[in-house]
Amino acid sequence: MKTLTVALPGREYDILIERGLLSQAGERIRAVLPKAQKLAVVTDRNVEFLYSSAVLDSLRAAGFEARLFTVPAGEKSKTPSQLAALWEGFMEFGLTRTDGVAALGGGVVGDLAGFAAATILRGVALVQIPTTLLSQVDSSVGGKVAVDLEHGKNLAGAFYQPRLVLMDPDVLNTLDLPQFMDGMAEVIKYGCIWDADFFDFLAARSSRPELMADIEHILYTCCDIKRQVVTQDELDTGLRMILNFGHTLGHAYELAGRYVEWSHGEAVAAGMCAAARLGVTLGVTPPEVPQKLEEALEALGQVTRLSCSMEDYAAAIGLDKKGAGADITLILLNRLGHAVPHQIAKADLLKLL
Ligand code: GLY
Repeated sequence: MKTLTVALPGREYDILIERGLLSQAGERIRAVLPKAQKLAVVTDRNVEFLYSSAVLDSLRAAGFEARLFTVPAGEKSKTPSQLAALWEGFMEFGLTRTDGVAALGGGVVGDLAGFAAATILRGVALVQIPTTLLSQVDSSVGGKVAVDLEHGKNLAGAFYQPRLVLMDPDVLNTLDLPQFMDGMAEVIKYGCIWDADFFDFLAARSSRPELMADIEHILYTCCDIKRQVVTQDELDTGLRMILNFGHTLGHAYELAGRYVEWSHGEAVAAGMCAAARLGVTLGVTPPEVPQKLEEALEALGQVTRLSCSMEDYAAAIGLDKKGAGADITLILLNRLGHAVPHQIAKADLLKLL
């Protein structure tokens, strides 16, 4: 078992990483919620079919009254109406403030169930059980929970740390290859922004089996980096922004593809490469970095270049008539393994793109 502790004062929690951990969920959650009687387990239809029985059996064996709350799979479930349906369901279940919510699924389930846990009864205990690579290395750690509004993604949300994160690498075996590679873009991001040795370790592996052979180390390293960032800047006012490397331009590609053509991982992969090239143009990033990054991503079959209209770039950086003079903070690499914030006028950035 690999264990990491997110040492936020008064809200410390562990991330546990072990193959087969799903079937130990009950005892692991019991250890952090000794008084809880009921556990609302939020999942989606795909994950329910694959993993809910193992988790529910384990929870019931540990003495929890567990009930499943299943939402349709996909981003369309991250809505205020789905959130309200969970609130009502939790009340009908008889959840009390000493009980808890477990999020069993990917980022959508984690964000939705997390925000439901943060807001029901002014906050009940949350356990994250992420089942995608993307949610294991990113959204299940650090406490960002949210739903989407018609005005945009993640606009209603909170910082609400879980009490425990249970990560079972075996669940990654049922992801299809594009979903797995989606997560790999974020994995490579950690090497870029924090750890050049980890980048080299990843760059030497070009297939899913090779990566899965070392998956515990990969999950541990990513979560260790995220843990260090989050404990220094929980509320995302400084250091935590480095986690957005590749995401500003990635957002432009997501907009350009209307959120259907390119997955988040594909957009982030191309966004990181674009940010690396931009960093060279701005004299921040060493010239060899874009090629190294592109080679590592291409080896995994990732896209490294996407096109985008000026309108979508402008929308992604928030450039409108009112913001024409305003600056944006871009995250650039001043070397492979280290990210720095870089202030630039939005209008100047648009000219460079
Ligand atoms: N996903 C970026 C963050 O947690 O800040």
